Amino acid sequence: RQIRITPSAVKARKGGLPLACLTAYTTPMARLVDAACDLVLVGDSVGMVLHGLPSTLGVTMEMMILHGQAVARGVERACLVVDMPFGSYEESPAQAMRNAARLMAETNCQAVKLEGGRHMAETVDFLTRRGIPVMGHVGLTPQSVNALGGYKVQGRGAAGDLVAEDALALADAGAFSVVLEKLPASLGARITRQISVPTIGIGAGRDCDGQVLVVDDMLGMFTDFRPKFVRRYAELGQDAGAAIRAYAADVQARRFPGPEHGFADEAKS
Ligand code: KIV
Ligand code: NA
Repeated sequence: RQIRITPSAVKARKGGLPLACLTAYTTPMARLVDAACDLVLVGDSVGMVLHGLPSTLGVTMEMMILHGQAVARGVERACLVVDMPFGSYEESPAQAMRNAARLMAETNCQAVKLEGGRHMAETVDFLTRRGIPVMGHVGLTPQSVNALGGYKVQGRGAAGDLVAEDALALADAGAFSVVLEKLPASLGARITRQISVPTIGIGAGRDCDGQVLVVDDMLGMFTDFRPKFVRRYAELGQDAGAAIRAYAADVQARRFPGPEHGFADEAKS
């Protein structure tokens, strides 16, 4: 049995071998990611990627628990992090503690992730002092899409100082790593130099301590969603579409099933 990568081990990778992270929402995908990556994130992106929701705002604790449990069954080695959904932690440190403890107890994840900078530092401190490792998330925070006015690049120009202060506040509060989403590459590099814990970038340049992508994006599951920061390592959406069309055509032309797929009247001895 392999040794499990802990949040402390992730933290110790600061400035070292880059951390490879992908999302997963199901057991089979979790197995594939676990075999190669350092971290598996059950992102609240599950709402948009698998449930067809228009944003992450409609994602519930129940959805995160169900997918967290499925992913946990496929993870042996990687550090397993589960996102706290919108509305489950913003009210108070006590509310965050109650829901983070529930996520950890019911999914066996090793850490939770929550969105927000300075204003969440008190909560990050509260959780980490009570045994819950926390991954931070600053820059573009999709749960705030309505306040931000869209999924735009954050921290350009003078606004960069505020994002850097957010990341510093989370590290000071005890976060073991911080996701930097959709920032200028120069700001991603600067924050990576300034904070003492690993930065995990998504559209935040090459200099972060690690990288994360939504697994369905990098596998090319979608034809209509091609963000600039994603490299497509496969075209599974196209392949699946072609396979499904071929199957339907075969059924309609009676080419499937073939004789080899049928059962004889009597079982062979
Ligand atoms: O929900 C998610 O998938 C995320 C990562 C992309 C960082 O938060
Ligand atoms: Na998320």
